[in-house]
Formats: sequence, C-alpha cells, structure tokens
Amino acid sequence: MSSMAGKVAIVTGASSGIGRAAAIAFGKAGASVVVVARRADKGEETVGLITESGGEAVFVQADVTKASDIEAMVKKTVETYGRLDYAFNNAGSGSSGKIADLSEADWDFEINANLKSVWLSMKYEIPVMQQSGGGAIVNTSSQGALLGVANYGAYGAAKAGVIALSRAAAAEYSADRIRINTVSPGAVKTDLWAEAPPDMLDQVAAGIPLQRIGVPEDIAEAVVWLCSDGAAFVTGHNLVVDGGFTAVQK
Ligand SMILES: NC(=O)c1ccc[n+]([C@@H]2O[C@H](COP(=O)([O-])OP(=O)(O)OC[C@H]3O[C@@H](n4cnc5c(N)ncnc54)[C@H](OP(=O)(O)O)[C@@H]3O)[C@@H](O)[C@H]2O)c1
Repeated sequence: MSSMAGKVAIVTGASSGIGRAAAIAFGKAGASVVVVARRADKGEETVGLITESGGEAVFVQADVTKASDIEAMVKKTVETYGRLDYAFNNAGSGSSGKIADLSEADWDFEINANLKSVWLSMKYEIPVMQQSGGGAIVNTSSQGALLGVANYGAYGAAKAGVIALSRAAAAEYSADRIRINTVSPGAVKTDLWAEAPPDMLDQVAAGIPLQRIGVPEDIAEAVVWLCSDGAAFVTGHNLVVDGGFTAVQK
C-alpha cells in the first residue's frame, strides 16, 4: 500500500463499525483523518484509537443529512489540515419494512440517511479537491443495491442510487483528477446487526461462499486501496466485498 503521508481523509460514520475501521486504516496509512458522526463520545473514541497508534485525527460532529453540517465539516477540515485528498462517505443506516407498509417519513429517512447524505458530502468535498488538483472519493453502497431483499426496498433503492450517483460524479470530475468509486459490503458484523436474533448471523454466514460474516476491516482495506495510488486507473467502479455472496453459486 502506498503511503498516504501528508494527505487528509474525511470518513463519515466513523463513530463505529466500517467507518471506524476505515478511519483507523487511513490513520495507519499516514493520512490525517477527520472523524465524522453525530455521537461525540464514540467519535472521540475513534480519534483516540488513531492517535494511540501514532496517527493524527480530529472529530467533527455532523448530521450527514444536513447541508449546513456537511458544509461546516468540509470547512473545518480545510481549517484544520489545509486540504482534502480522500473522502469515505460511509454514514448510513438500514431499517426495514415492506413497501406497502412504509410511511412517507420512513421513506424520507432512508433516502436522506443513505443517498442525500452522499450527494451532500460530494457537493462540498469536490470543490476543495478541484482546488488542490484532485482526490479520491469512496461512497458506501451495499449488496442490498444488487439483490432484491424483502423488507429492504427503500434501503436498496437508496444504495442503488449511491452507485448511479457515484458513476455520474466519476463522469463529471475525472477531468479534475478526482476518482469516485463505491464499495458494496455484504454482511459485516457491526452495530447495524445489533437487533438481529443471535442465530441469524450464523445462518447468514452459512450462505456466504467464504463461510463467514465480514469484519469491518475487510471493507476498510478495500476503501483505503480504492483511495490509494495503487487504484490510480480505477474510477466509476463498484467494488463488492461480500465473501462471494452476489457472484458465486453456492
Ligand atoms: N454492516 C453491514 O452488514 C453493511 C452491509 C452493507 C452496507 N452497510 C453500510 O455500511 C455503512 C456503515 O454501517 P456499519 O455497518 O458500520 O454500521 P454502524 O456501526 O451502525 O455505523 C453507522 C455509522 O453511520 C453513522 N451515521 C448514521 N446516520 C448518520 C447521520 N445522519 N449523520 C452522521 N452519521 C450518521 C453512525 O454514527 P452516529 O450514530 O454517531 O451518527 C455510525 O458511525 C452504512 O452506510 C451501511 O448502510 C453495512
């Protein structure tokens, strides 16, 4: 992995799970990390984990569904570290419900948390990257964007929207040397699964060709690679990290 020393990364949803693991991985690669989430205690915990291992990080509290928070997040990044090279727009949440049972508020919540948040993040990140001559963005989609999953219609629609939006962004900003990709995690053991019945994760693991649930670090490695110079010729790509679930017959 090429060194990210002197580079600056924003990671949204970095107070737990995949975002936290990615923030730590960016820190280990040498980047200064802007840890973004709503929960300040958990966000500061992530900062502590990065600095304990010799990295540099700052916490910025933001609700990624609010334009004013995202604008302030990017402003604070530039004030603190003077530039922005990488962004992992990862914050999101997955709730469930059958299509005919969803309320308008349920729909708006899902689209705002998972799709509007990514648009807002890129809206404010891209101009800063344009000014400094380029950058790399990874947005979090999901295997739920690629498969029809009962009870996850709104979530899947939002996550499929993330792939389409990211490809359009790649088309619009390649000439500015900004690479924009998505990562689609399969089942990864995080707080997102906190309310799942205890045996459900075992059942899910049994259906995955690689025979296990993902860990946040599986996704973090892919994200840091997509941002690194090693992926210099990769843009508009959706990297599926799911143990083979969507690609391999089992
Ligand atoms: N785990 C899986 O199996 C899986 C599979 C496919 C895709 N994903 C996607 O991966 C991403 C990370 O999820 P995870 O599994 O790591 O779950 P997680 O541990 O619950 O992390 C979700 C993160 O998003 C943040 N967040 C949620 N809404 C936010 C908002 N409005 N503003 C700011 N931050 C917000 C949370 O922080 P605060 O609560 O502190 O704000 C938290 O840090 C999500 O986009 C999820 O949809 C996960």
